[in-house]
Amino acid sequence: MTPEPLTGEGADENWWRQAVVYQVYPRSFVDSDGDGLGDLRGIIARVPYLSSLGVDAIWLSPFYPSALADGGYDVDHYREVDPRLGTLDDFDDLVRALHEAGIRIFVDIVPNHSSNRHEWFQAALAAAPGSPERDRYHFRDGRGEHGELPPNDWPSHFGPSAWTRTTNPDGTPGQWYLHLFAPEQPDFNWDNQEVHDDFLHTLRFWSDRGVDGFRVDVAHALKKDMSEPYSPVPSIGIMSDYPIDGSHPLFDRDDVYEVYRAWRAVFDEYDPPRVAVAEATVPVERRVNYATRETLGQAFNFDLLGTPWRASAFRATIAHSLELAQSTGSSSTWTLSNHDIIRHASRYGLPEGTDLERWLLSNGTEPQGDAALGLRRARAATMLLLALPGSVYLYQGEELGLPEVADLPTEAIQDPIWIRDGGARKGRDGCRVPLPWQHDAPSFGFTTGTPHLPMPAWFAAYAADLQDGAAGSTLELYRSALSTRRRLQTAETLTWVELGDDVVAFTRDNGWLCIMNVGAEPITLPEGELVLASEAVTDGILPGDSTAWLRARP
Ligand code: NOJ
Repeated sequence: MTPEPLTGEGADENWWRQAVVYQVYPRSFVDSDGDGLGDLRGIIARVPYLSSLGVDAIWLSPFYPSALADGGYDVDHYREVDPRLGTLDDFDDLVRALHEAGIRIFVDIVPNHSSNRHEWFQAALAAAPGSPERDRYHFRDGRGEHGELPPNDWPSHFGPSAWTRTTNPDGTPGQWYLHLFAPEQPDFNWDNQEVHDDFLHTLRFWSDRGVDGFRVDVAHALKKDMSEPYSPVPSIGIMSDYPIDGSHPLFDRDDVYEVYRAWRAVFDEYDPPRVAVAEATVPVERRVNYATRETLGQAFNFDLLGTPWRASAFRATIAHSLELAQSTGSSSTWTLSNHDIIRHASRYGLPEGTDLERWLLSNGTEPQGDAALGLRRARAATMLLLALPGSVYLYQGEELGLPEVADLPTEAIQDPIWIRDGGARKGRDGCRVPLPWQHDAPSFGFTTGTPHLPMPAWFAAYAADLQDGAAGSTLELYRSALSTRRRLQTAETLTWVELGDDVVAFTRDNGWLCIMNVGAEPITLPEGELVLASEAVTDGILPGDSTAWLRARP
């Protein structure tokens, strides 16, 4: 069979609508040169692994030059590769190797802020207040007699203040600049035309190199109301408290969509058009604005992360998400893990209502958590996601059933949240520990050097080589589920099937029936051919906390 062309004539413009996208966090995937940081050559070497997993695309988290003040989301240069990760030639080779394997690639674009080492920010520091160089960022005079107080009390996501004072070239204290994240991540001023133009340049630069799509970081924060008097922003992290009318000074302002209309025009210069997915943590009703054909086309849907382990809750979240996506002609996205959240194999092993920050601070001991239950539920939930209409975003390592490394020694922590918040939050490193490839190799085959985050001894049991070909392993479950999905995937609709209070069940229009039993008690499966199950099914009985796929018998 001739593989479908990925670009040019005959390429499918709608490939993204039901794609399975695998997130590669490059520094923790595979290291090819022994410096302890994963790199592009490492990813190239694992393209056969990605192929055998059966993903349609990868999303590559930032691989740009960076001081890694925030895991690469502090970008020094948007059109270069971090020399520790490779070169532009390596990048081209990676795109080629992926495309030859029929796998597309999204790259991460970080438009809200650059790094403080970016040449524009350095030029801004060297220039005078009010200069064109400073206008590319948000510089303001401080309050107080000597400007010693920040311009306002806006908090940063990473705590505490969103403002840092500069030092003038002559050593005297200077103006303040805005950073919604770490001080190493100054926010761009998106009312500045040069900022606009430079990002269009960047989008074309990567599109010309064959990139198929973009994941847009903090897509909702670009446009800001910086007029005085400043509006109060009491709690930056609680998105659900936002007014959902576009009036918040920092997030989801109506004019942010203008930015993405201009981006869309660039995407449409290509054949097939480049695609994008917005990371916009905004109320669900506003999320749709990022997912129109005129803007970014698709937006991450994080609603399942907060959905309790109850059938009614799953049904409600799924139905609402599908409705919202359809209202703009988009398709829904589904995800359970990424590089910012505690891995779902661990979350599902914790009692409902567990304070996850406190759990991490206790090194994963309070409460203890039930690892077996967590993995069992994770496998069941993944099979549910993979049966849904829409696209699924997987995070590297979840196909191995990896739990969170909750007890990273504090001296190893790299996440700026830990330092900025004075140890009150441990941050996200526990899901960013490098992957175990070989159970008996030094650093489990990730590197021949010292991994940039320590890998615990118990990672051996999750190593890919042990799971490869092993019946019932999580890796083999993912492989089977992805190939079955590819075979059965059909129109973007589902029909709910009523099978009891503890069951989430639906069919797709070709008779593919997905049944998730969220209860602890086994249930009897209805008539049909059993295609796949997350746990062993004997005599037509589906155990608790598991999912089965059936097909109507012809
Ligand atoms: C969202 C990214 O996923 C996260 O890792 C990062 O810290 C912030 N945006 C800031 O770029």
